[in-house]
Amino acid sequence: MTRNRLSQKASSFTESVIREMTRLAQKHGAVNLSQGFPDFAAPLSIKQAACDAILADINQYAVTWGAKPLREAIAADFTARHGVPVVPDEQITVCCGSTEAMMATMMAIVDPGDEVIVFEPYYENYGPDAILSGATPRFVRLREPGPGRPDWHYDSEELAAAFSNRTRAIIINTPNNPTGKIFRRSELEEIAALCRKWDAIAVTDEIYDHILYDGETHVAMASLEGMRERTVTISGISKSYSLTGWRVGYALAPPPLTAAIRKVHDFLTVGAPAPLQEAAAEAVSFPEEYYSRLADDYRQRRDYLVPELERAGFGVFRPHGAYYVMTDISGFGFSDDVTFARHLVSEIGVAAVPGSSFYSQPAAGRQRLRFHFARKRETLETAVERLQRLRDRAPAS
Ligand SMILES: Cc1ncc(COP(=O)(O)O)c(C=O)c1O
Repeated sequence: MTRNRLSQKASSFTESVIREMTRLAQKHGAVNLSQGFPDFAAPLSIKQAACDAILADINQYAVTWGAKPLREAIAADFTARHGVPVVPDEQITVCCGSTEAMMATMMAIVDPGDEVIVFEPYYENYGPDAILSGATPRFVRLREPGPGRPDWHYDSEELAAAFSNRTRAIIINTPNNPTGKIFRRSELEEIAALCRKWDAIAVTDEIYDHILYDGETHVAMASLEGMRERTVTISGISKSYSLTGWRVGYALAPPPLTAAIRKVHDFLTVGAPAPLQEAAAEAVSFPEEYYSRLADDYRQRRDYLVPELERAGFGVFRPHGAYYVMTDISGFGFSDDVTFARHLVSEIGVAAVPGSSFYSQPAAGRQRLRFHFARKRETLETAVERLQRLRDRAPAS
């Protein structure tokens, strides 16, 4: 008889709440504003480049750590934007999405018992990433905007107290999912000083670096003094080119860390899809106008959705970057976020993510709900129309 024993690691986290909401959206025919992926087309020239690569028979394994044209394009782009020299042969590992890049990085740098600092609310993958790599996550709370503090912010003393000689790394996601926060240069410098003091590595997830609003700018941690040798920059093509299904991402790191990341990556997946890497090289070389247009299109979606959410009764934390909006649902009188999210998907026809899934202590997110707005205008309009019905319904809690 088979003993269905599961590993302690696999038993210690739940299935992704975000992906579950997507499945529920499909089941109920709801507008899916939960899992962050676009419902509009990716740029034609990149799709054409992928077809060309397949027809040219670039269909076998690429070099394990990434096709040369793509690594060269990533290096040139990073240097041009942040003034940091990058050697593509020694510092870049192309992975199956930034998801794999993050996991390969964690497995390459962490030993059981090491602590990894994570700001919360956090992108839900970071929790299981820590568990699977054997790290003990140490959470530092991003506090909500309030009177006198218009942005999400951390407490400097709490952050400093989280570091110790057990700290191996800190994960920073800027622009941030789910809050839309952009870490300022001064904040990154404070974090950098702590990394240098405690000999910790900064792992920065910068996948939304092109989606910024209101004149905000993106500061790369690796560009700060003394950080090039202790930063792993994680990014990918999913968000900037609307290609979440292609699974192409990368880790950019100093050579000794890259060597370890490449070993882990090789045995995890061997490599990312070869023809898609060829096409991704073209995407990463797009001119500046492409990115300003991308950011402006998202700004318009944000500027449409935010006031409509407020009109429907949500409290809204206005995002400065990325394509998510965190909301306060306390005006609706539901006992908790999961009950509310289930009501929303099954009765109203809109899927969103319960706020508790972004916190280590679920209580912190019980009256919070996250929407994303990587949707066509007409999709958002349908969602908004449905959300107005919320006011007429009695709480189902
Ligand atoms: C902060 C953050 N990092 C990484 C990812 C996943 O990126 P990829 O598609 O490159 O694996 C997401 C997707 O939602 C995200 O929000």
